[in-house]
Amino acid sequence: MIAPSRLAVIRVCEAVFGQGERCPEHWNQSLEPADAGLAHAILGKMFRHWGKMQAYVDEALTRSDKNLPLETRIVLALGLSQLAWLSGVADYAAVNESVMWISDPHKGFPAHQGLVNAILRQAARERASLAEKIEAYPHYLDQSLFTKHALRHALGPDFNLAHSQSLWRKWNQPPRFYFRVLEAAQPLPEGLIPDATLEGCWKLEEGASFPTEWLMQHHGMVQDRSSQALLSFTWDRSVRTMLDLCAAPGGKSTGLHLKYPEAHLTCIEKHPQKAEQLKSTLKSRKIEATVIAADARVWLKDCDKQFDLIWLDAPCSASGTLQKHPDLTWIGENIDLALLCKTQEELLSAALPRLSPGGLLVYSVCSWFTQEGINHQKTMLERYTQMQPATIWSPTLGGSTFQLKPLEWEGEGFQGFALSPQ
Ligand SMILES: C[S@@+](CC[C@H](N)C(=O)[O-])C[C@H]1O[C@@H](n2cnc3c(N)ncnc32)[C@H](O)[C@@H]1O
Repeated sequence: MIAPSRLAVIRVCEAVFGQGERCPEHWNQSLEPADAGLAHAILGKMFRHWGKMQAYVDEALTRSDKNLPLETRIVLALGLSQLAWLSGVADYAAVNESVMWISDPHKGFPAHQGLVNAILRQAARERASLAEKIEAYPHYLDQSLFTKHALRHALGPDFNLAHSQSLWRKWNQPPRFYFRVLEAAQPLPEGLIPDATLEGCWKLEEGASFPTEWLMQHHGMVQDRSSQALLSFTWDRSVRTMLDLCAAPGGKSTGLHLKYPEAHLTCIEKHPQKAEQLKSTLKSRKIEATVIAADARVWLKDCDKQFDLIWLDAPCSASGTLQKHPDLTWIGENIDLALLCKTQEELLSAALPRLSPGGLLVYSVCSWFTQEGINHQKTMLERYTQMQPATIWSPTLGGSTFQLKPLEWEGEGFQGFALSPQ
């Protein structure tokens, strides 16, 4: 029988490569911890080196074989990723389970049993140099139009082949985790050290264990360095009421509460299930807030209140999270960017009139695409002539816009801007 970890990987690959769907957020949660870890490691390699592994497969095929069905390509990459990068997996486990899957007449493609067996056995024979051989194929094989587009936008005027290759090498490896302390009175997990350049941001020392227990007890949370940098803004006016418009899963809401613990926080989240989850997360973190499940555009139309601080972390392509979500490489082209930009503009237009005099609106997206980010600033300044850019971030982060230098910055690709009525 095929192991649950490998079965979970096959299912996700079928959804991503076959249906163009996102990798579900909790795809490995029902697995035992050891299986979940193995599945995570395999899937990461599958997404990050899918193109190069297919080149290896194509080289091993005769001309007439090249039109392989997706199922065959998936099980070959499943076997190759273990043989190349997961030294703890035995040859027979990596080879036999792929062969077993492809031989199943209901799920696999039995005609390719011999072919899968032959290619993976050959890969097992050259296992010592397999990773090197696969990695030596050109980088662009592991890219898609979506990632190429993201690289261009991220690098902007600094775009050239060398920069694009360095940035891709960085994006195509697992990201580092960053943390925030929620309960300062509780002991810190072993190996958690402060990030020297961003106050309040923590990271793990090389080799330290992941602080699962500490996180489960809500003494701390994972929050990417870019989100923390966004929240490092300085604003000298008083903030008594805050509105977080696209609030789930609650990272920014939590950050806003930590910054202004006395202010009343209202959180809007469109998806009822996510809104429920958000309520429970905030409660566990001992944060009082009003959580409303609604489309913010609709809710804002009926709203007669004004807020001192409005945070709009808008839905976007998430192109800034390619390092954390390598599945995006393969499905990003299906994203309707025009529709997202329209929604972002509608959200901004609905939110700005709800700012109190002297209030602050912060807009952010985890995307490198300028049309989802800073381009909206110009449109809003033209439409709402009483608004002006507010300089709330340090000059290195951009001042009144939040723009990161991707080659120097460790963290996700966020961009944003801040506006305030004159
Ligand atoms: C980028 S995420 C926000 C992340 C969140 N701010 C945080 O830091 O944890 C965008 C969220 O907005 C929600 N959303 C999308 N469209 C929305 C809308 N029109 N009104 C309210 N929420 C929306 C999505 O369901 C998603 O949870």
